[in-house]
Amino acid sequence: MDYSIHRTTRPLAEALANLHTDCLVVGVYANGDLTPSAAVLDHLSGGLLKRLIQRGDLEMQAGKTLLIPSVSGVTHCERILLVCAGTTEELKLKRWKSLFSDSLNALQQRGIKRVDFALLEAAPTGMSQDQALRHAVLALDEASYRFLDFKSDKTSGLPSVQHAAFLAPTEANNTLETALAQAMATARGIELTKNLANTPGNVCTPSFLAKAAQQLAAQSNLLEVEILEREAMQKLGMGSLLSVAQGSDQPPKFIILNYRNAADDAAPVVLVGKGVTFDSGGISLKPGEKMDEMKYDMGGAAAVLGIFKAVADMRLPINLIGLIPSVENMPSGNALKPGDIVTSMSGQTIEVLNTDAEGRLILCDALTYAERFQPAAVIDMATLTGACVIALARAPSGLLGNDETLIQSILQAGETSGDRAWQLPLWDDYQDLLKSNFADMANIGGREGGAITAAAFLSRFTKAYPWAHLDIAGTAWNSGDKKGATGRPVSLVTQWLMSRVEA
Ligand code: BES
Ligand code: MN
Ligand code: ZN
Repeated sequence: MDYSIHRTTRPLAEALANLHTDCLVVGVYANGDLTPSAAVLDHLSGGLLKRLIQRGDLEMQAGKTLLIPSVSGVTHCERILLVCAGTTEELKLKRWKSLFSDSLNALQQRGIKRVDFALLEAAPTGMSQDQALRHAVLALDEASYRFLDFKSDKTSGLPSVQHAAFLAPTEANNTLETALAQAMATARGIELTKNLANTPGNVCTPSFLAKAAQQLAAQSNLLEVEILEREAMQKLGMGSLLSVAQGSDQPPKFIILNYRNAADDAAPVVLVGKGVTFDSGGISLKPGEKMDEMKYDMGGAAAVLGIFKAVADMRLPINLIGLIPSVENMPSGNALKPGDIVTSMSGQTIEVLNTDAEGRLILCDALTYAERFQPAAVIDMATLTGACVIALARAPSGLLGNDETLIQSILQAGETSGDRAWQLPLWDDYQDLLKSNFADMANIGGREGGAITAAAFLSRFTKAYPWAHLDIAGTAWNSGDKKGATGRPVSLVTQWLMSRVEA
């Protein structure tokens, strides 16, 4: 999907009367009030819109639509779509986004290629036009996303709409074009994340992720990629990470992304993404039901790559490092066993009581590796625990860390982007749960507070810098009928990085 902004210096009535498009979308409130553009169209058409509404052709409920074939007085528009925006009080972020997805769904499969939205004039109160535009683009992109790589028929079911234009309101500020470019960059990042995460485990292996990172770097002169192979990881002492990889025939990869677009001495942000391309549980084998969904256990890695794509497209003036420890967790004659003790890169020893708690075993070595960059902040994102889904369901990502200022800024970016997180406590009280009789720590903390004990484990490797952890087990993909990657938390983290630049 492609997007543009339509700016004109003409008066609204003249502009709309001369607009060439397959379909113009305008808004109506639940009480029958028309948005400015709808009022103009009503006037141009001799009161047609009001008549249709009065006789009940449009259900006055948010998201309901009415397609009007063609209207005298606005002859260059092939069609007009009326969309009900509900009440102004209820028009908040979620409903704003659904105005666009509902409109798009009403138009798909009708051969409509180009749509013009005259809705920015009705942006929710308190939301800047730039933000309103950003959310509109992400909503449209989401609604038109299809993953057809593995269907033999790659054409049927494709959305017909290929171009969406946004009419700039008369009083539009001049940052709208930049906001659009940034929104599109974010949308492309989310698409990449979804595509990678939806790709099955027999194709999306650690080597595949490494290639994806290299392809990304090839598209930007600001981005470099380095891949560490097993031998290099051995030399670094990444015994914990390698212990997870040893049961698989797929070689592990440690992917390092280096994006530089700020002063050389500006401390970078480091993003770490869990890249388990399939999590069978290892010798602590998972039950069979829904095990296919463990192809998504590289959702954190996919998000890091998506964020780098967005940041590189925007040419955000920051230094950013990405670290992706990538392995496949499999049972075999070589596999890690319950009771095994491994030595992490930090020197701390770990008693592996459950080989299915493998995410933390690869993340801890990546978090130790992060120290060498003397980071301003480290954020890791990982499909880490089923317990996080039990605690919070799928609305927010779980958020924990060792720096309250960092955490608050991430929560704020979650509100702004609508890709929300919710903080869980990480008090010292929880550390005792990780006691081991034989090693410095165990890799699990028992049944209680599983999302927290997982983070408590990670916290033992993050003492050198401000750190936050996003548990995205419940947010990275949808289960059931709508099974598929969501692209979260790309929007959240990209928004956080953008806010840091503005601050
Ligand atoms: N990848 C899983 C976490 C997960 C489970 C994500 C379900 C999404 C849905 C992780 O590696 C795992 O298996 N965690 C265990 C930890 C336990 C053994 C302490 C879990 O959550 O059951
Ligand atoms: Mn696991
Ligand atoms: Zn896992």
